[in-house]
Amino acid sequence: MEIKGKRLLLIGGAGLIGSHTVDELLKEDIGELIIYDNFCRGSEENLEIGLKDPRCKIFKAGGDILQTDILDAAMKDIDGVFHFAALWLLQCYEYPRSAFEVNVKGTFNVLEACVKNRVQRLVFSSSASVYGDAVEEPMTEEHPYNNTNFYGATKIADEHMCRAFYHRYKLPYVGLRYMNVYGPRQDYKGAYIAVIMKILDRLDQGLAPIVYGDGSQAYDFIYVGDCAQANVCAMKAETTDSFYNVGMGVRTTIKELAELLLELTGSNLEIQYEPAGMTFVKNRIGCPKKAKMEIGFEAHVTLREGLKSLIEWRKSHMEAVEKRRRKA
Ligand SMILES: NC(=O)c1ccc[n+]([C@@H]2O[C@H](COP(=O)([O-])OP(=O)(O)OC[C@H]3O[C@@H](n4cnc5c(N)ncnc54)[C@H](O)[C@@H]3O)[C@@H](O)[C@H]2O)c1
Repeated sequence: MEIKGKRLLLIGGAGLIGSHTVDELLKEDIGELIIYDNFCRGSEENLEIGLKDPRCKIFKAGGDILQTDILDAAMKDIDGVFHFAALWLLQCYEYPRSAFEVNVKGTFNVLEACVKNRVQRLVFSSSASVYGDAVEEPMTEEHPYNNTNFYGATKIADEHMCRAFYHRYKLPYVGLRYMNVYGPRQDYKGAYIAVIMKILDRLDQGLAPIVYGDGSQAYDFIYVGDCAQANVCAMKAETTDSFYNVGMGVRTTIKELAELLLELTGSNLEIQYEPAGMTFVKNRIGCPKKAKMEIGFEAHVTLREGLKSLIEWRKSHMEAVEKRRRKA
């Protein structure tokens, strides 16, 4: 879709990926950006840069996807919708009914409102969690739905709802399956990436970084700024009814991640290994080829560069980091 002059709604736009997408979209010639968020996890702080631009506003009447009349009002005269709002993995584990309410029913509400208001395009945030543990590597978009947890189950249901809405009502959409997203503004709640903030906290105190298990668990870490670009590419693209991996396609073990953090912070400490806790997935690396070919997205920020940016942000936002630590 041509985004020049368009009015775009970012549902869950005050969160990690949403707020970076706001920053990325404001580099484009868009008409207006409206943030629709209930702020259960996101914050106005995340929108500090975005809200300085007069084209970016928070929808004032409300921001919950379960409040369908308010959601409907926010969609009036909107051309394109990004849907980021969801409960995260461990919250879904603890509260499966809420996971169903917000992630499945909430997404159904978003789809219904898009159709009612003749929205031209939807970019839906799915997740690599739909794949579960890899049965082949790297995982293409054809990899089976090997998920076993509630969070992944809600994302699989949502993907099928998007598809059904497209086939029944012709609502054009694409879904993005992000791998492990990290970067400035992240908190302590990511099931796999929280290890980064926890290690940095320990290093500040002169304590050895802790790795649970033998550190051989391997993931595809992707910088949040790259995810924001993937969203812009997905909104601009013409393809529809399709899902895309958003990752680097690079395998990094938790041990390698911890070693890189030690190197980047100039620490001589040694990794301390502790018995493994709860892990949902031990191995997940996505194939980035389809996204490159069909929506023109390619990740550019290496883990080394991305971690440097995160470390810089953390140093200059210690108050925000402290708030996140308390909330964890
Ligand atoms: N961060 C990752 O590693 C990752 C990986 C795969 C998929 N995803 C998915 O990408 C999307 C964005 O992730 P994120 O990391 O930015 O998460 P986030 O929690 O930072 O952002 C989600 C936003 O949605 C808002 N929200 C939650 N419930 C809401 C509701 N009922 N109504 C309105 N707003 C609500 C929160 O306040 C938050 O601002 C999510 O759908 C997530 O499941 C994230």
